[in-house]
Amino acid sequence: MDQNLVMAEIKAYISIKFQKDKSGHDLAHMDRVRNYARMLAVSEGLDSFLPEVIALCHDICDHKLTEDEEGCQKELLSFLSKLGFSLKETETIQKAIHAISFSKGLKAESKLEQVVQDADRLDAIGAMGIIRALQYGFSKNRDLSLTIQHFDDKLFKIKDLLHTRLAKEIAEDKHVLMLAFYNQYQKESEQT
Ligand code: ADP
Ligand code: NI
Repeated sequence: MDQNLVMAEIKAYISIKFQKDKSGHDLAHMDRVRNYARMLAVSEGLDSFLPEVIALCHDICDHKLTEDEEGCQKELLSFLSKLGFSLKETETIQKAIHAISFSKGLKAESKLEQVVQDADRLDAIGAMGIIRALQYGFSKNRDLSLTIQHFDDKLFKIKDLLHTRLAKEIAEDKHVLMLAFYNQYQKESEQT
């Protein structure tokens, strides 16, 4: 398997899927998660190819993006097997994609799942996390207070749910920044 070619094929596939998204699930998110996945995999002594593939594919069939989650997953698996992934590998990829989801609340069972889960969660916090939460809220025409509520519901919890040492380290600054933003928002809201 020519890994560079496979990556290029996957990027072409997902760029078509994400063309229209405005909810914070854009290609830039996939690229950032891929980069985190590579860094975390290396720091955990894993080969980074599969984590990077999973990172690029992880949101393609999200219910926010597709009406037919099951059909989308079938199409993805058939695309991956055409690229040369074995049945065992496509099963591993599919299971890891399920494990990434915050809302499904599944436990990451392997080092691979921990790495990709951490990678996605790192992009939900920090400056990018703030931007994505606001972008998501605006795209849904949500009241700002509801978007800020998302910090308590999810974003502030992420730091303590991470598995890998490097992700925990990266999360420190991100968490501090979100807290400062949140506190300043509350302060300015009370003043006006
Ligand atoms: P991810 O791609 O990280 O798995 P989600 O699919 O849950 O995240 O959501 C995409 C982005 O939108 C994330 O950055 C998330 O924090 C943000 N988001 C999700 N739900 C809300 C919400 N109710 N209010 C504000 N932001 C949200
Ligand atoms: Ni994601």
